[in-house]
Amino acid sequence: MAKHTVVTMPGDGIGKVVLPQALRVLEKVGFDAEYVHADIGWEFWVREGNPLPQRTLDLLEEHKLGLFGAITSKPKAEAAAELDPSLRDKGYVYYSPIVGLRQHFDLDICLRPCRSFPGNPLNFIRKKPGGGFEEPPVDVAIFRQNTEGLYAGVEWTDPPPEVRKALETHPKMARFKDVPSSDLAVSCRIFTREACRRICRAAFEYAAKKGYKSVTVCEKPNVVRETSGMMGEEARAAAGDFPGIDLWFTNIDAQMMWLTKDPEKYGVIVAGNLFGDIISDGFAGLVGGLGFACSGNIGPKAAVFEPTHGSAPKYAELDPPIVNPIAMILSAAMLLDHVGEEEKAEAVRKAVGEVVAEGRVRTYDMLRLRGGPEVIAKGAAATEEMTQAILERLP
Ligand code: NAI
Ligand code: MG
Repeated sequence: MAKHTVVTMPGDGIGKVVLPQALRVLEKVGFDAEYVHADIGWEFWVREGNPLPQRTLDLLEEHKLGLFGAITSKPKAEAAAELDPSLRDKGYVYYSPIVGLRQHFDLDICLRPCRSFPGNPLNFIRKKPGGGFEEPPVDVAIFRQNTEGLYAGVEWTDPPPEVRKALETHPKMARFKDVPSSDLAVSCRIFTREACRRICRAAFEYAAKKGYKSVTVCEKPNVVRETSGMMGEEARAAAGDFPGIDLWFTNIDAQMMWLTKDPEKYGVIVAGNLFGDIISDGFAGLVGGLGFACSGNIGPKAAVFEPTHGSAPKYAELDPPIVNPIAMILSAAMLLDHVGEEEKAEAVRKAVGEVVAEGRVRTYDMLRLRGGPEVIAKGAAATEEMTQAILERLP
């Protein structure tokens, strides 16, 4: 029997293209695993009224380790219209299955490493004061709280009277007292101490393990005092156990301004859900964008690894496929890290780095081409050629 069982959830669109590429890489590095396929995505919404069927939850419950490609989400009305006629008007409501997975398994830590590979033409470059350009090496790992904050979904337009009444116990509600409830929209930012503690600890542990010198809490405690404040308290508490690692604080707005000024200064960054979402896209943009952005959703009982990109429906049917498999392959490397196969994970990242540095094989995004079937004739590598180049660099 294999040592690990990985639940593979290709999902929709290019999720189906990139996930098999990652499996080829995992096989080549000799990862001792078997794979079980699980259904997720649009197809299952349309056919069953559920994009995340119970059988998929059961598989993850059993095996606790998942690789996910991408899904297609559509607005409410469109989703309802595409539902199989036999299921219409039966109360089915579309929800994002990846958000569903995060909530169901309490995958509360989202880790998004953003490391530039030397030679990537998409790397951020900066003007030097004396003329010319420099390419600062970016190596940041973002820890985004994944289940709470503004994305927890506790919100109302036209809040019910008891909610309104409770809100009015707060003196700062006085300025809204004449606004009719129907004109009031409220989204609650809820942080729990336990979740703050877990993400701050995880950030410090990661910093210690991977040799980062600092952990930066990127929040806004001067304004959003209670929630950002709690994150800060827990970060200070965690920092006490890691004397060799500096704890810094930045505000999300200022951090975005500094994003391109000195990205090489940062190591590990911790943030709540919304700010973490923003800052991780910001850093991902400096190191190649969606074709390179990998992530892990890590909870106490299960973990699911996925590229940050979506299903890119425009490119889903192209033959040969042209999308960059690197984000998916790097996500698979994160899975290797997670199960303690760090050497194999490093081998994968090294192989990717070598292919990027050599510059012979580049997908269309790396050539800054507009996607389409003609990119191959313009010198872009197809998805499988990129995977092949990476495989050839692996022992
Ligand atoms: P997207 O990430 O699918 O694509 C945006 C653009 O980025 C693409 O048109 C393409 O130009 C580029 N791109 C994405 N992945 C790439 C890759 N591997 N290589 C090269 N270029 C790549 O985002 P979009 O178009 O906003 O959403 C499409 C669908 O995906 C929607 O239904 C959306 O809801 C869903 N989505 C799903 C996510 C997930 O599964 N976690 C995340 C984001 C969007
Ligand atoms: Mg994804």
